[in-house]
Amino acid sequence: MKCPRCDQDNPAGSRFCGECAMPLAAVCPKCGASNPPDNRFCGQCASELGVQSAERMPAPQAYTPRHLAEKILTSPGAQAGERKTVTVLFADLKSSMELLLDRDPEEARSLLDPVLELMMEAVHQFEGTVNQVMGDGIMALFGAPLAHEDHAVRACYAALRMQERVARYADELRRRHGADVQIRVGINSGEVVVRSIGTDLHMDYSAVGHTTHLAGRMQQLARPGTTLLTEATLAIAEGYVEVRALGPTPVRGLAEPVPVYEMVRVGSARTRLHAAMARGLTRFVGRDAELEQLRRALEEARAGRGQIVAVVGEPGVGKSRLFYEFIRSHRTAGWLVLESSSASYGKTTPYLPLLGLLRSYFKLSDDDDTRAIRAKVTGGVLTLDEDLKDSIPPLLWLLDGLPDDHPFAAVEIARRREQAVEAVRLLLIGESQHQPLLVVFEDLHWIDAETQSLLDALVESIPTVRTLLVVNYRPEYQHAWGSKTYYRQLRIDALPPESAEALLEPILGSHPELRPLQRMLIERTEGNPLFLEESVRALVETEVLVGQPGAYRLGKDPIAIQVPATVQAILAARIDRLAPEDKQLLQAASVIGKDVPWVLLVETAEQPEEQIRRGLSRLQAAELVYEARLFPAPEYTFKHALTHEVAYGGILQDRRRAIHARILRVMERVHADRLSEHVDRLAHHAFRGEVWDKALHYLRRLGTTDSRPRIDTLIGGPESAGYLWIHGEHEHALTVALRDRAVAASFGSFRDTVRANYRLGQIYYSLGDYTSATDALQRNATLLEGDLRYEFFGLAGLPAVMSGAWLALCLGELGRFDEATAQAEAAAALAREVDHPFSLVVAHVGTGMLELLRGEHAKVAEPLEQALVITRLSDIPLLFPVVAAPLGLAYAFQGRHADAIRLLEEAIERTEAMELGANNALRLVWLGRVQMLAGNPDVARRLGLRALEMARRRRERGHEAYALQLLGEVTRQAPYRDEAQATEYVRAALTLAESLSMRTLAAALSER
Ligand SMILES: Nc1ncnc2c1ncn2[C@@H]1O[C@H](COP(=O)(O)OP(=O)(O)OP(=O)(O)O)[C@@H](O)[C@H]1O
Ligand SMILES: [Mg+2]
Repeated sequence: MKCPRCDQDNPAGSRFCGECAMPLAAVCPKCGASNPPDNRFCGQCASELGVQSAERMPAPQAYTPRHLAEKILTSPGAQAGERKTVTVLFADLKSSMELLLDRDPEEARSLLDPVLELMMEAVHQFEGTVNQVMGDGIMALFGAPLAHEDHAVRACYAALRMQERVARYADELRRRHGADVQIRVGINSGEVVVRSIGTDLHMDYSAVGHTTHLAGRMQQLARPGTTLLTEATLAIAEGYVEVRALGPTPVRGLAEPVPVYEMVRVGSARTRLHAAMARGLTRFVGRDAELEQLRRALEEARAGRGQIVAVVGEPGVGKSRLFYEFIRSHRTAGWLVLESSSASYGKTTPYLPLLGLLRSYFKLSDDDDTRAIRAKVTGGVLTLDEDLKDSIPPLLWLLDGLPDDHPFAAVEIARRREQAVEAVRLLLIGESQHQPLLVVFEDLHWIDAETQSLLDALVESIPTVRTLLVVNYRPEYQHAWGSKTYYRQLRIDALPPESAEALLEPILGSHPELRPLQRMLIERTEGNPLFLEESVRALVETEVLVGQPGAYRLGKDPIAIQVPATVQAILAARIDRLAPEDKQLLQAASVIGKDVPWVLLVETAEQPEEQIRRGLSRLQAAELVYEARLFPAPEYTFKHALTHEVAYGGILQDRRRAIHARILRVMERVHADRLSEHVDRLAHHAFRGEVWDKALHYLRRLGTTDSRPRIDTLIGGPESAGYLWIHGEHEHALTVALRDRAVAASFGSFRDTVRANYRLGQIYYSLGDYTSATDALQRNATLLEGDLRYEFFGLAGLPAVMSGAWLALCLGELGRFDEATAQAEAAAALAREVDHPFSLVVAHVGTGMLELLRGEHAKVAEPLEQALVITRLSDIPLLFPVVAAPLGLAYAFQGRHADAIRLLEEAIERTEAMELGANNALRLVWLGRVQMLAGNPDVARRLGLRALEMARRRRERGHEAYALQLLGEVTRQAPYRDEAQATEYVRAALTLAESLSMRTLAAALSER
């Protein structure tokens, strides 16, 4: 017996691997018989395998069913770590105190453990993984380590199932022990980083933002017996479940209340198209040729020559929609239509699609009990044809309506299945003699083995009956009917641009300002109708599109369009199904870009050339990439921008960075003679690879200035404290900010308090009141804890990051370097975690400026270079002067005077162009200092005087002290050599520095 994990050969009958202790056989919990690891039911007593006691089996490897464990352990990236979009489910047990009080603990446990087992069973039923068992609860993930396109739906179904199962168990407990148990479930969807899955399947999760926290909070908020969802989950599971909106609810750790939903029951939608119907379908476009083919097959079948039509196409191209339109057209009038579809989690549930079909044939409803089922099935069969009466027991068995003591229940399982298949086949053929029959099987790629064998049997009988069998599936599925003369396959592809436009037009409306957006959408999705619809939905949600359907207008600039959650899930699931080496190849390719030149791929993919070729042809066959051209050099391209973004998004930051840096080196070598043609790409890889000096080198193209309206959006409109401050009106700004804070306090507005504190910090800093600035910013540091650190509160950067960076600066002026360093480091770490450009720039500036104050001149440039690259690439000209000015000074310390002067002059010019007055006096001082170092004392002196005047005019008292210091130094040197005047300046500077507690400057001044 070979161990699937370590390949060790074990003696037959072993239960565990002798080498690595991996369970080899599933041991039946009921009769103890040993079963092959893949069995779901015990071969001896037919009990369900895989449901184990949590107490006995605490490690994930033990409670994860074997087929899942194997999938996980062989999945690429599982060991290395990945970013995934998942749904997180927390469930815990609320038991009544009596249960625990009156009983000895062991007995109480034995009553409660089954609840935990039921929770886990429900999770596994929908292929989730139980990541942790904590006391009386579990944490489960759907969509990790293996991506599922419907992770949110699965989580909801699992919650419904566990609630239902536990409720049933609770009834029994109540009757037998008079005790009450209920569970609370909380669900949320979002991004997580999954790291290091050990061979014991243990996974570590770092939450990105609040994904896991919020799921946990939902569970804590849930009343016993209920399940709560967040908006993020509902957005993907809409239609599949029915919910009751509980409205915005305060959640501990979050400033703003969040909308919460209670799950009520399963929704009416079973497929994505059903869910879309509830929202209203888009106008049907194109597909004339396909409808014509279906119509012909229908005519043949009506004449008694049964036909099979298979429609094949990628997710979302419109297979289901084509059927929907066909079935509802006048052509099928007079036909009996029987529909069924497979479910993504249904591969392991025998006959799932068939049950739907039979239930609708016999008109069974959810409320029908066993007696009603028996009556309807028996009646239905006998009315059709009395000769079919032998089919009744097998049909009842399928539909869970067979009495336990019926002889058929005792027949061997394989025979039972054979007879069931035959019964359904006869039923359908019998029916087709009364009226022509249209049988629909959707989504064969998820079909279970039992339904498959039924279909195979049915296919053989088709040619002689009045039946049209239509099926659809995605390209990865295969069947054996290809050679039948009565079979035809229709391949459907994404919509051509005209049809895609025709689809978009009625949704978007026809305003000319939307034309570019429409073109971009079609290009990004390459005409896939689902991706188009979902992209529009996402744009409406993010308010890029505003107004009414059919008459949208642009709400804001569609700069960074996100991949819609539903599309993300579909694509991620497809990528996860690739073989490990192919997935790795696809990811490496995604780092190169949407277009992938072969030369770069060979050098980046870390695979032998031959393997890359084979991998590429598999990726082409899977329709993820295609060959864009062969000459002069082969180049591949991602099928659509969305696939590219999802593949790239799954790679962890560290790995991405390493690959980008490698691509940069390769490009520099390969294109050595034509670097200028590739500057954009070079700059991009240098930036992403964090090779800062190179990035700056290639980023010659400088950004321009920010427009007035954009500055207003980033900082605040006229009359706001931010606006007044940045335009240099500090005292007016101070009055406004103090008033804002007082108002915020009296209304208890957390958001406005945070914003006011932040502005006060900046204003006091400019005024030279570092103590008051520290006080205001420190308040934010105290307020912004836990999840609140991730909230923007309407500011352009994260207040937690920006307050920390400014605080570091103020503390540095005050000479409190230990505290300053701690603040700067925390701010930088948070900014990196969130990876938000504006916040990163501010954090880096904080770090660089602090080193400047500390006198660590060699350490100033690096963080500022990073910041500069980000301001250029992310196009934030507003921040350019803030970064470029101190960087100029840093370059001067390195002896790079020309670069230094260029940067500082540009910084000052830009602030003037944008009319940003705040702190410009300090920039003049720096430029003066650089001119002095560069040997231009007269220029330096003029700058010093200008700075002094400006600082006094704007009441920037700290900067006044710096101007005086500069003037002192210049005046002492040639050609002035005016010692008396110099001493005068220095004394004035020192007095000012001392009165402002600027210990760092005071120390520097007294050194002389
Ligand atoms: N020709 C079309 N005209 C207008 N809308 C369409 C068209 N084809 C598909 N759509 C819309 O696109 C969405 C996705 O289509 P559909 O559900 O049929 O895809 P599918 O191919 O069945 O995908 P899956 O493989 O995931 O089942 C639906 O909302 C559908 O209404
Ligand atoms: Mg479909």
